[in-house]
Amino acid sequence: MSKQDNSNGNNAAGMNVVDLKRRQLLKATGAAAVAGCAMHAAAAQADDAAGVVKGDLLVPSKGDATVPLKVEDIKVGAKPVLVWPFDLNEKKARSDSRLNKLMLVRVDPAELTPEMKAVSVNGVIAYSAICTHQACDVTEFVAADKLLMCFCHFSKFNPGDGTVAKGPAAKSLPHVPLAEKDGLLVIAGSFSNKPGV
Ligand code: FES
Repeated sequence: MSKQDNSNGNNAAGMNVVDLKRRQLLKATGAAAVAGCAMHAAAAQADDAAGVVKGDLLVPSKGDATVPLKVEDIKVGAKPVLVWPFDLNEKKARSDSRLNKLMLVRVDPAELTPEMKAVSVNGVIAYSAICTHQACDVTEFVAADKLLMCFCHFSKFNPGDGTVAKGPAAKSLPHVPLAEKDGLLVIAGSFSNKPGV
């Protein structure tokens, strides 16, 4: 991680206020997760349990939630909602693989390309929650920029299509097509690209 720490041009001996704040943020946002970036990346690359299934519902990733999310639960301009696909047959979240973790965001449908409109429901889009840089969770929405952000090294992604707005991440966030059934959000296909790094 030392290379990324120095990516803004400051050397280790001359750590400035930005470096210091970033390090404090890293601690505050989950030191274990950050310290394990390399571990996340390795796990994300060698995970046979990864996979979402058409027809899966979506449940919040926090706690043991089993209440499926509705379209109306996801708001434009809000923080992304991290979710697991929910296996209706087994009645359990597909949480065995981190690569299955998704985040739901909502964008004004008028701002979406036809391609993204086709995979969203009234502007709700499901992206992989795993940052394509070093596999931390992408958890934030920066309202001032209207961009999604990963706290580990501050990569930013466009909420309308998952493309990188600012590195160090170099790859877009893959998305999963969504549909609506009885007001609930439902997985309608597989990842557009391999999730993870
Ligand atoms: S893991 Fe480095 S920016 Fe997300």
